Amino acid sequence: MTAARCTGAPPWGSPDPSTAARRELRAWATAELARAGCVSAAAEADWLLDEAPDPEGLRAMVARRAAGEPLQYVIGWAPFGRLKLAVGPGVFVPRPETELLAGWGIDHVPPGATVVDLCSGSGAIALSVAGEARPGRVIAVERSPAALAWLRRNAAGTAVEVVSGDVTDPGLLAGLNGTVDVVLCNPPYVPDGTAVPPEVADHDPAEAVFGGADGLAVIRPVIALTARLLRPGGVAGIEHDDVHVAAVPDLLRADGRFTAVEEHADLAGRPRFATARRMADCSS
Ligand SMILES: C[S@@+](CC[C@H](N)C(=O)[O-])C[C@H]1O[C@@H](n2cnc3c(N)ncnc32)[C@H](O)[C@@H]1O
Repeated sequence: MTAARCTGAPPWGSPDPSTAARRELRAWATAELARAGCVSAAAEADWLLDEAPDPEGLRAMVARRAAGEPLQYVIGWAPFGRLKLAVGPGVFVPRPETELLAGWGIDHVPPGATVVDLCSGSGAIALSVAGEARPGRVIAVERSPAALAWLRRNAAGTAVEVVSGDVTDPGLLAGLNGTVDVVLCNPPYVPDGTAVPPEVADHDPAEAVFGGADGLAVIRPVIALTARLLRPGGVAGIEHDDVHVAAVPDLLRADGRFTAVEEHADLAGRPRFATARRMADCSS
């Protein structure tokens, strides 16, 4: 959508809208959002109406959305599988395509397993595994202080353990070396300089999106970390950019500690994530 300002007064008269008043509000919000360039203006108007505390609140939310802020930030949450995750400025909005990696992880978590979610952001993958499989431990690692605040909020009241850490740190989680059953990771992987939509460029944290000149600056150390953490026979799934359909599987093979390296596409046939199994016959 374009970054246009929302203008015009909403046509409500009552702070407690009747069905007829709601229809008027919906029509007003839809028109404002369409004028701002929003392609799904009516659907977004419904989301905003559902979350707005009152007509003034709606007006403020429509203005934020019309100025280009992601809908998920404006309503304060994002859906991810069965989850409703709190999100806002400072944290990456979880994408539906990552549900494929989370689903693969859920299918590969034996009861009682130890699972590590690297680059956890809002906690989408960790919390999905914790809620839909029967792990013994789920550890969510994130570096950004802003993202950590959202992660801690989403993980509150769950058994997910939040770790503030850098996945490029060679000493990260050293106490778990060789013991982890499943490692999952959706790292920053877009090559620096790639053109991204304005909503991503202006609102997703850059450190959540861009992965260095070739997009692999975080994935390389993640592969080494994964090999160190996994027990023999443990498995890993790493999401990547379309352009890495060969590069990430090649890096996994080149590490020398993985077998069963496979590439997975989404429903549109786009390459999405690579998986591998830690070899049982090496101990490094
Ligand atoms: C693409 S987002 C993924 C977030 C979440 N896993 C998801 O799927 O929605 C990548 C995340 O990795 C974090 N990150 C980037 N570099 C990191 C590093 N070196 N160590 C730990 N986390 C990092 C970012 O802050 C961001 O939250």
